Amino acid sequence: MRRKLVAGNWKMNGTRADLAEVQALTTAFPAPTVDLLICPPATLIAQMVTATQGHTLAVGGQDCHANPKGAHTGDISAPELADAGASHVILGHSERRTDHAETDAQVRAKAQAAHSAGLIALVCIGETLEQREAGQTLAVVGTQLAGSLPDTATGANTVIAYEPVWAIGTGLVPTLPQIAEVHAFIRADLAIRFGADGATFRILYGGSVKPSNAAEIFGVPDVDGALVGGASLKAADFGPIIAALSAA
Ligand code: 13P
Repeated sequence: MRRKLVAGNWKMNGTRADLAEVQALTTAFPAPTVDLLICPPATLIAQMVTATQGHTLAVGGQDCHANPKGAHTGDISAPELADAGASHVILGHSERRTDHAETDAQVRAKAQAAHSAGLIALVCIGETLEQREAGQTLAVVGTQLAGSLPDTATGANTVIAYEPVWAIGTGLVPTLPQIAEVHAFIRADLAIRFGADGATFRILYGGSVKPSNAAEIFGVPDVDGALVGGASLKAADFGPIIAALSAA
């Protein structure tokens, strides 16, 4: 049985004042029945870990370098994230693939580094609108999945996030059958590569998840939770999404 997970990706949003939103969440959900994760800007990780001490809410990074240390100005390593108290790291988000031209091979190396540091990697994959309209969705997702997951991946140390690029921050959401099709495809692909363990990977949907659409998305087979951007910034929005997953 896969434990459901709802993760917030704060992206480049968040200063110390925003820690109050997390405290509102831990107060509202003192003993959550689903896994909760927030990935704030790296500057807030240690403080968020302190602010949520004694609660199951986990804190994660949004990227890591493939090397454990060295001359890489501005980058953050997986052991550094772990040292700050992070337990997870988002890797291969489409914004990193676009803004920093990250390739599947780089994402795979980062995931391996995350595993070496004891972090759970949330590996993001998803097609662009052009690719979907050209009928390439499953081919693109399959290529990204194969290329971005290292052989060290297991259902315990890796979470897949299916995030159609065209659904991120746009208010556009695939139809439920479209989500179901891709999640089933990912599930089958994981079984081929990882055997029985493939059934234990959590597969999250991400892209314009809101309180208004969360429940129906969580009802789709093989959707084990969500990776939420904008609606994770405020407890008033993220709380109902957590509640919807708890009820699913
Ligand atoms: P939005 O929920 O803002 O569409 O962002 C999704 C996302 O990119 C999460 O990683």
